[in-house]
Amino acid sequence: MQISFAALELPTSGAIAFLVEKDKPLAGLAAEADSKTSGALSKAIATSRFSGGAGQTLDVVAPSGLDADRVLFVGVGEAGKLTQQEWLETGAAVCASLLGSGSAEATIVADASGADALALAEGALLRSYRFDKYRTKEPESKKPTLKVVKIAGAASDAASAFASRKAVIDGVFFTRDLVSEPANILYPASFAERIRELTDLGVEVEVLGEAEMTKLGMGALLGVGQGSERESQLAIMVWNGGAEGEAPISFVGKGVTFDTGGISLKPGEGMEQMKWDMGGAGTVVGLMKALAGRKAKVNVVAIVGLVENMPSGNAQRPGDVVTSMSGQTIEILNTDAEGRLVLADALWYCQDRFKPKFMVDLATLTGAIIITLGHEHAGIFTDDDTLAKQLEAAGGTTGDKVWRLPLHKNYDKLIDCPIADMKNIGGRAAGSITAAQFLRRFTNDVPWCHIDIAGTVWSEKDLPLSEKGGTGYGVRLLDRFVADNYEG
Ligand code: BES
Ligand code: MN
Ligand code: ZN
Repeated sequence: MQISFAALELPTSGAIAFLVEKDKPLAGLAAEADSKTSGALSKAIATSRFSGGAGQTLDVVAPSGLDADRVLFVGVGEAGKLTQQEWLETGAAVCASLLGSGSAEATIVADASGADALALAEGALLRSYRFDKYRTKEPESKKPTLKVVKIAGAASDAASAFASRKAVIDGVFFTRDLVSEPANILYPASFAERIRELTDLGVEVEVLGEAEMTKLGMGALLGVGQGSERESQLAIMVWNGGAEGEAPISFVGKGVTFDTGGISLKPGEGMEQMKWDMGGAGTVVGLMKALAGRKAKVNVVAIVGLVENMPSGNAQRPGDVVTSMSGQTIEILNTDAEGRLVLADALWYCQDRFKPKFMVDLATLTGAIIITLGHEHAGIFTDDDTLAKQLEAAGGTTGDKVWRLPLHKNYDKLIDCPIADMKNIGGRAAGSITAAQFLRRFTNDVPWCHIDIAGTVWSEKDLPLSEKGGTGYGVRLLDRFVADNYEG
């Protein structure tokens, strides 16, 4: 779908979306359209239950007198009080209502200034995403028709101001594409190939295979992929948009392209969901696409560990002991606690090679985080109050919400082990926290924050900004976090 910006006037084709305030008569161009139709529009509202409340919509066939397909009224409550998030959701609501309406073009009559008009456009575009590449028999009548959304009444520089938001949305869509792909298509090597596409934007991409990782001593990551026919990979992305020689910031992602649990096999029901167990890596890669796409003035390193966790005659067993790149040994008590093993070596490698200012890792790490926070907030774990505050602020502005959970030495003790330096599970209590404590042991005291996104990568229902499926959670969060705190 395309976005464009136009002057504030009544469109003469397509669908027209008017924003209506709660319990207020039609105003401005909506009032003009109403008089052109001899009051048919206000009559349509009066005979419906539409009152202009936030989130309400009313779709009316364009009455005679108006050159348009249809009119969509969108309730905005009190317009003066809309947050950026509500502007996003208003744009998205227009898109969701009209996507399959039959209209090819929609104009949102906004008279909204600056950031608000951009947010309307951003919301509409975000909501237009659909993963339908494998649907070969969908009837034409079910396919989306909407191709263009125009914002009428935006500032004259809106189109150029929108370019950087568009770059970020491209990153979000890349993440949604990646998490939606089935695991027979997206496996470590094919994922690495998708990452190489970023070189077109100026990102340097390097991919290590099993031979190189063996030399580096990455026994934790390699143990997870050992049962799979697919070769494990470590992909490294570098974007140098900042000052030459300045230490980079860094992002590390869990990329388990399919998580069966391994020998500690998961139950069959719902296992198909584990195709998106690469969501941390998918988010990190989408973020790099966003940052490079808008030429962010910052040096960034991103590292993703790509493995498939399978049971087989060669799979790692419960009770095995592996040696990580850090030298620390780990007793594997549950082969389904694999994400932390992948991240252990990826984090260690990141700080060892790049000496970053900080590391932020993203992972669909624990089912327990869904029990704690549901599907609203991702969990953040850090000793660094500055990182926590910056991420909380970015969560507030983007709507990709985060909630801080504790780290403490008493939780750390729960993964001590008599057989090795640590075990890979801490028991049922505080499962998301003991997982984070495990990661912390591989940060070498570099400032670090772990984000557990197991509850936010995928949605089983339509959301304001995305259809059921991959949400792209985290790309806009981290783009904002970088833009607000680490650019030039
Ligand atoms: N990938 C899962 C976590 C997960 C669960 C993500 C549900 C998304 C939805 C992770 O590898 C896992 O299996 N974690 C175990 C850890 C346990 C064995 C300590 C879990 O959460 O059950
Ligand atoms: Mn697992
Ligand atoms: Zn997993």
